[in-house]
Amino acid sequence: MGKMLGIKVPKKEAEKIRKQLLELNLLDVNFKIKHQNDFVIFPIKERIKGFEIIETTFEKATKRPHSYREVVNIPSELQPLLPSSFDIIGDIAIIELPEELISHGKNIGKAILKVHKHIKAVFAKGSKVSGEYRVRELLHLAGENRTEAIHRENGIRLKLDVAKVYFSPRLATERMRVFERAKEGEVVFDMFAGVGPYSILLAKKVKMVFACDVNPIAIRYLEENKKLNKVENLIPILGDVRKVAGQVKADRVIMNLPKFAHEFLKEAMISVRKGGVIHYYGFSHEENLFEEHLEKIEKVAEELGKNVKVLEKRKVRPYAPYQFNIAIDFSVF
Ligand SMILES: C[S@@+](CC[C@H](N)C(=O)[O-])C[C@H]1O[C@@H](n2cnc3c(N)ncnc32)[C@H](O)[C@@H]1O
Repeated sequence: MGKMLGIKVPKKEAEKIRKQLLELNLLDVNFKIKHQNDFVIFPIKERIKGFEIIETTFEKATKRPHSYREVVNIPSELQPLLPSSFDIIGDIAIIELPEELISHGKNIGKAILKVHKHIKAVFAKGSKVSGEYRVRELLHLAGENRTEAIHRENGIRLKLDVAKVYFSPRLATERMRVFERAKEGEVVFDMFAGVGPYSILLAKKVKMVFACDVNPIAIRYLEENKKLNKVENLIPILGDVRKVAGQVKADRVIMNLPKFAHEFLKEAMISVRKGGVIHYYGFSHEENLFEEHLEKIEKVAEELGKNVKVLEKRKVRPYAPYQFNIAIDFSVF
């Protein structure tokens, strides 16, 4: 390798000088910095006044890849189809691959493991979320063939099986938003609790949480998560919320079943005390985000002889082209 320009600086000043060189765009980042006794030698792009300049050889820097896309072994014409991101639940990655990439899934999985050292298993989404339990099929791509993990979110730990229960790490911010709205002393009814991402979090703040789910595996994990997070003021209820509704009078009701929440509005309204708040979720086209949902909410309220007051309407996240998961918070009188 040919000789290059470098500047030799005392070790104790090296960090300060490195930052200055970077700022001035004079450091040649394609080469490795050299250490020599009490001195550091920086590869530089051009001569700089005021420093001891030496001519020397530098090793080429090995750049750490930032994305699995930089190391994946697939035909180059398919490269543009690679998703830029994937979900991470604990140490499990779940990626959504287009048809054309499914047969290259193993290599994609291996590339994810190579770049993200904390990920131990990679799966591809094998179907859409479906059925009463809102779960999807998963295809194992690489690493351990294990679907149970412990996910950290909003300061709590959630143990769950990604193949047997619903869980989306993308709702963490929304759950924190509800947590911030909730007040100490409240009773909360989480109608579709899953493994407890809302319930456990809220139990850390409010007086009591009733958490219902029809999936026995979700409730089993919810029981475990209660212990894992040392939460006592939470009552898991296994069953169809249609049978449970009305037996609880809550200050706050969470309806996190966006696909079907509109079918459960009566259950929510008979479970909330006068002046209490309902967090309603739905799916909408971007051209009509809230109207249809609001009409349904008002219709059910009228049937029950109640009034509603909308407190907040918002997009939670996009979930398909032009489609959004939306939230409407309203109080009932
Ligand atoms: C979209 S998931 C939400 C889970 C959880 N809140 C979360 O954020 O991860 C909806 C949950 O509702 C449950 N579910 C569906 N229909 C139900 C019903 N009729 N009664 C009680 N739970 C139901 C499903 O088993 C599923 O766990």
